[in-house]
Amino acid sequence: MGVAAHPLMTTSLRVAAVGDLHCTRTSEGTFQSLFAKIGESADVLVLCGDLTDYGTPEEARVLAKELGATKLPKVAVLGNHDFESGAADEVSRILADAAGVTVLDGTATEVLGVGFAGAKGFAGGFGPRALQSWGEGPVKAFVAAAVEETMKLESALARLRTRGRVAVLHYAPIGATVDGEPVEIYPFLGSSRLEEPINRYRPDVVFHGHAHRGQLEGATSAGVPVYNVALPLLRRRFPEQPFRVIEIPVGDEPSGHGAEVPAMGARA
Ligand SMILES: [Fe+2]
Ligand SMILES: [Fe+2]
Repeated sequence: MGVAAHPLMTTSLRVAAVGDLHCTRTSEGTFQSLFAKIGESADVLVLCGDLTDYGTPEEARVLAKELGATKLPKVAVLGNHDFESGAADEVSRILADAAGVTVLDGTATEVLGVGFAGAKGFAGGFGPRALQSWGEGPVKAFVAAAVEETMKLESALARLRTRGRVAVLHYAPIGATVDGEPVEIYPFLGSSRLEEPINRYRPDVVFHGHAHRGQLEGATSAGVPVYNVALPLLRRRFPEQPFRVIEIPVGDEPSGHGAEVPAMGARA
């Protein structure tokens, strides 16, 4: 069930997630029905980066207007595309001011009794063959960027005091949800460094985007569910409802993992 008049009286919160909207300056009108449908199906909307296509303030303004189709609280992280024009701060500011989006960047927020920890994440690859900090300076700088994003995610997770907790990323923290992409680009789709703080803090669920041709679901080595909510992937798999809705517990009992809302028909 979702949030009624008083959130403390409910037992779960319906969290909708989608990423990789890649909103352009000509996207006006193309997302309103999606956001309206999400508004009818969930209590909170999570946006997993690549909100814009080129990271321009103009695109952010178009998206902010589209987001007006739903009154849900909105939590987001930016993606690599949102940095393309060197205006990421302005993109965040526009989404916050014009659409009420809480943009997380190594930070945490609480919405209706559920905690959200977010960071963009970064690349580097998965498992024992992941890129290591060794050799040339540029390689070390690349790895340092992944380490920094991992520390951001960790400090955000550490701040949460709620029973129900959600981790929001753009890049994938595990290889399983990028499976299906060309193997040559696996290392650019995420980093298993991000998996470490997730396994330590055990949020109920992790959402990420970025892997447009990956898999819908996976889990970390500690069993934390991971959902790839890249819109191109969701549109192919669930054309009628290209978003995920996961129920996150609100209450005092020991936390379990989030469960998919069965009535939403999100499964293929
Ligand atoms: Fe994307
Ligand atoms: Fe991306």
